[in-house]
Amino acid sequence: MPTLKKLPNIVRGKDYIETKDWTTKEIELALNTASDLKKLFKKGKPHRYLPDKTAFLFFFDKSTRTRNSFEAGATQLGAHAHFIAAETSQVAHGESPRDMGIILSSYGHAIAIRHDLVPGEGNSYMRAVAKDANVPVLNMQCDIDHPFQTLADLMTIREEFGKNLRGKKIAVSWAYAPSYAKPMSVPQGLITLMPRFGLDVVLAHPPEYTLMKSEMEYAKKIAKENGTKFEVVDNMNDAFKDADIVYPKSWGIESLFHNPNQALEISKKYKHWICDEKKMKLAHKEAIYMHCLPADRGYEVTDAVIDGPQSRVFPEAENRLHTCKSVMALTM
Ligand code: CP
Repeated sequence: MPTLKKLPNIVRGKDYIETKDWTTKEIELALNTASDLKKLFKKGKPHRYLPDKTAFLFFFDKSTRTRNSFEAGATQLGAHAHFIAAETSQVAHGESPRDMGIILSSYGHAIAIRHDLVPGEGNSYMRAVAKDANVPVLNMQCDIDHPFQTLADLMTIREEFGKNLRGKKIAVSWAYAPSYAKPMSVPQGLITLMPRFGLDVVLAHPPEYTLMKSEMEYAKKIAKENGTKFEVVDNMNDAFKDADIVYPKSWGIESLFHNPNQALEISKKYKHWICDEKKMKLAHKEAIYMHCLPADRGYEVTDAVIDGPQSRVFPEAENRLHTCKSVMALTM
């Protein structure tokens, strides 16, 4: 095997629970490493940075992209990713996060967790595991952030517009979806990461769909510190006006995650919050459409938009592979 470029050690052993936990320099390293790994993958060149290592993937919720990008990514890095459905483990009988963290640390080299469905639970659980684990804890989506998704989103945006994003605008909007109350972590992850990398952010949602107060405060603070804008509006049209990137997706009501039927009834008032070709025309001509997926086609977005020339959802989903490999290779 050809000699691999040596990776810096600056985040070796470090948890990746929220993008806020990593400095801008550390995020830049993750993005640059992801681009390098993407090139190696496309050229079919081996890049086994993690031979004989094991990552435990602990899922409290369903997944297509996250599970498969981590499993395929670990294989490509020469490691093994071990899938665990939380309900099949002793966690379902109440085993503590401390015991789980200590024990899995003694068997392998990273503990990745998805625990995203209930506000107030997932992030705290991950931090409780991380307190006593001595391997990196990686957040595959919690109630607060989805840091692998937003890293892939930033990579996709930079591939489109370059590294200097100053003056570009991203519209993060709520959209109607009947399938289920989607977590709040993607919009929260976007508003707390993108202002740091030069993007102006406009957030749009109906009155019931406010994001967590802590994340709104952080977004305001980080935008101010970085000389970027963070604005909130109450309709999708205003958000899309002159946007360079539109990211309309559904999320649930913070106080109603335990009451999905009531939440679904409220959401029906806002069926017109759909991303269609008419709304896309409000954005810049060169604007791109993004969505973390899965999307409720015909509700959150029309087929014409998601399958149209402005859509970047598939490169965005592909970048989940390169970014999760980057973080695993740098931290494990
Ligand atoms: N975007 C995302 O996290 O997809 P999955 O839920 O399929 O993992």
